[in-house]
Amino acid sequence: MTTTPAAEPLLDVQPTPLALLLLGREADPASERGVECPGDLPAASDPDLVERARAAKARLGDRVFILGHHYQRDEVIEFADVTGDSFKLARDAAARPEAEYIVFCGVHFMAESADILTSERQQVVLPDLAAGCSMADMATAEQVAECWDVLTDAGVADATVPVSYMNSSADIKAFTGRHGGTICTSSNAKRALEWAFSRGEKVLFLPDQHLGRNTAVREMGLTLDDCVVYNPHKPGGGVAPEQLRAAKMILWRGHCSVHGRFSLDSVNEVRERVPGVTVLVHPECRHEVVAAADMVGSTEYIIKALDAAPAGSKWAIGTELNLVRRLAKAHPDKEIVFLDRTVCFCSTMNRIDLPHLVWALESLADGRVVNRIQVDPETERFAKAALDRMLALP
Ligand code: 13P
Ligand code: SF4
Repeated sequence: MTTTPAAEPLLDVQPTPLALLLLGREADPASERGVECPGDLPAASDPDLVERARAAKARLGDRVFILGHHYQRDEVIEFADVTGDSFKLARDAAARPEAEYIVFCGVHFMAESADILTSERQQVVLPDLAAGCSMADMATAEQVAECWDVLTDAGVADATVPVSYMNSSADIKAFTGRHGGTICTSSNAKRALEWAFSRGEKVLFLPDQHLGRNTAVREMGLTLDDCVVYNPHKPGGGVAPEQLRAAKMILWRGHCSVHGRFSLDSVNEVRERVPGVTVLVHPECRHEVVAAADMVGSTEYIIKALDAAPAGSKWAIGTELNLVRRLAKAHPDKEIVFLDRTVCFCSTMNRIDLPHLVWALESLADGRVVNRIQVDPETERFAKAALDRMLALP
């Protein structure tokens, strides 16, 4: 996450140079995300980048399909064939069997999901392998296996159904599939929990404690006391066996470093600053933020709510800044402000920039597949079972 103090108006602030310095180098090879990009990237200052991207895309024609997550930079979104939240993009990737290459402008776990959901002959490319997700990194396969042992020792594993947020590695999705669980996104978390509670007494929700808690308490009628937080960095998760036995929701201690920035103070401050404002936040925000907001929903929900809003209405939006700035630009008749006073991009999403996109497209057009994201067959089999359950949710 990249934060800089900002002067008013927040939406006019340009992206910080920091994002441009992170040109795919210096990734942590032990994390969910990949390693540094090979190859020679075009210079960010090259004035021909837009033309080069256009030309390479034209050379590839229908052989390439470019997906762009809503949090991507404008310069990248411009080249996306479709844009969407992680749920829509997972479906869109699966619905294009004729495209030989899927270029995923998003983060690593999304590209993995696209690889799992597309056919053998399709190759998924992530323009910068270092575009990961700090939340997905908060749950590793070893930690989750250990957690399951803790649940087994407490005698609750048989009554527990895992529900994993899309924002998790393929390994965690495979764990979920292996144990009869489903994947969810912020668009369908309620339906996923309903499905899970029709099959078991408890849910192990991975890795975003906030989405899990917010959905359970706001939408399912559970209480905060029905939830416990499992901390993978503490012995036994830092929860006593009797607490696990009493809980309905076992929440993994993970969070989004972008949405986690918003606070109750941000909500109170914006209500003073913009009288009559409607506060609309993403469910990855902390529970007290969601409780104080007027409306809550996924990125697709936020986009639709603003499309439907009357002219002259005022909105404070608690989600990633690239999207909020685009929404403000698209609706000049409405007052749309960013919920917080600090600029808050997802820095790993921002790693996909025009130089990386040009490099990936030109390489593909020259017959070289770079930065392919490929999930091994065993992991894929179980992860696909969990993803298919999500896609089949009513
Ligand atoms: P959605 O795309 O499901 O709204 O999730 C937001 C997000 O943080 C993606 O990384
Ligand atoms: Fe991960 Fe949050 Fe960035 Fe989404 S916005 S990719 S959850 S860090």
